[in-house]
Amino acid sequence: TEPIDLMDPDLLHDPFHGFARIREEAPVARAVFPGKVDPILLVTRYDDVKTVLSDQRFVNNPANVPGGDVGNVREQLIKMRGIPPEYAKYVLESILDVDGADHIRLRRLVSRAFTARRVLELRPRVEEIAGALLDELPGKAGPDGTVDLIEGFAYPLPIAVICELVGIPEEDRPAWRDWGRSLVSLQPNAMNEPLIGMVHSIENLILRRRAEPTGDLLSSLIRVHDEDGDRLSDQEMVTMVLTLVLAGHETTAHLIGNGTAALLTHPDQLERLRAEPELMPVAVHELMRWCGPVHGTRIRYAAEDVELGGVKIAQGQPVMAILVGANYDPRRFADPDRLDITRESEGRRETHVGFGSGLHYCLGAALARQEGEVAFAGLLRRFPRLALACDPGELQRHYLPGSWRLAGLPLRLND
Ligand code: HEM
Repeated sequence: TEPIDLMDPDLLHDPFHGFARIREEAPVARAVFPGKVDPILLVTRYDDVKTVLSDQRFVNNPANVPGGDVGNVREQLIKMRGIPPEYAKYVLESILDVDGADHIRLRRLVSRAFTARRVLELRPRVEEIAGALLDELPGKAGPDGTVDLIEGFAYPLPIAVICELVGIPEEDRPAWRDWGRSLVSLQPNAMNEPLIGMVHSIENLILRRRAEPTGDLLSSLIRVHDEDGDRLSDQEMVTMVLTLVLAGHETTAHLIGNGTAALLTHPDQLERLRAEPELMPVAVHELMRWCGPVHGTRIRYAAEDVELGGVKIAQGQPVMAILVGANYDPRRFADPDRLDITRESEGRRETHVGFGSGLHYCLGAALARQEGEVAFAGLLRRFPRLALACDPGELQRHYLPGSWRLAGLPLRLND
């Protein structure tokens, strides 16, 4: 059979049913990106996705495949986007691109600075930022009286939160929004200018914090590496900050956008949540499952021959875990197409894989959930008659493989 085209418009427009079909037809499916990129394999079933993400026989860095001369698919994709090699290293050598001891080392160093306590202590500040943005929202209405939640709230909230946490000054924040915009552009070289700008501003900030530490995460990252004897190099620190700020706002913005759209198109669920606000944490788990913003993970490579679902994956083969396939797998979730905000109330831990699984499980999951809870609760409280300003079918999206993001979310606040 023909390999799946990851840019196929039908698949991009309805990845839920598209990947469901693939999941039921073949546990391991061949797929291609257009251009000079090696073909990859897709896994879509819940158990197989968990295996690819947590079994040490799969690695993130193709150089860790023994004896292999394995193509680096991500490097090929980055090359296609025209990023110059001296800057590509900042996006190719992140915590998501390393395995084993290299990964444990990076994860340990960043976890010392990015602690659960720091996230918990941030909650009142997240509420304050969200409250101020919601107060400003009516003033952002266009001539037709509608407000775009993506530009007016879904992006500004996580950008402000992650920048405050990391220690990025206020004046640099619009540049991060530009960087986000460049990511959805498939034009070659669109990412260059924003990336170069980000790298230089982080380098500057490191110099300033080294001279004069503050209470922010960057100052902690600098301190951690000094005390341990082990050090994060400057390049590693730039890459880490870049990863944190990027991973920390692009995704969360689209959880807020997708989640709000989901609630507004499911009035029964919305009413239940308004009536029982204590359901919010469980509802956020379900929104992550039902409309999480990340549909596919970083590519993994089989470090040895592996059998999955009765299919042999040869050593060195690149594999992508399709999270949306797993999160809609009827083998794991009864009636998966139904949005049920109480679904994940059974266990204390989430069962969906929208934040990944295994050693690379999202470092910022607790922060992202907290921001989602605060954002949805604030919106519902502040605007009790909030409504979509268009037909659900008319919502515009940025169609990119592996992600699910609204281009805009026009709302009537009716306040
Ligand atoms: C990893 C999703 C928010 C930082 C991941 C992974 C996923 C994910 C699926 C695993 C990727 C893989 O294994 O290939 C999300 C979603 C978010 C979110 C859906 C919001 C709704 C955040 C935030 C931060 C963050 C707020 C930082 C403050 C990271 C980092 C990793 C990661 C550093 C790499 C961890 C590692 O390699 O050990 N995220 N994320 N994420 N995320 Fe998130």
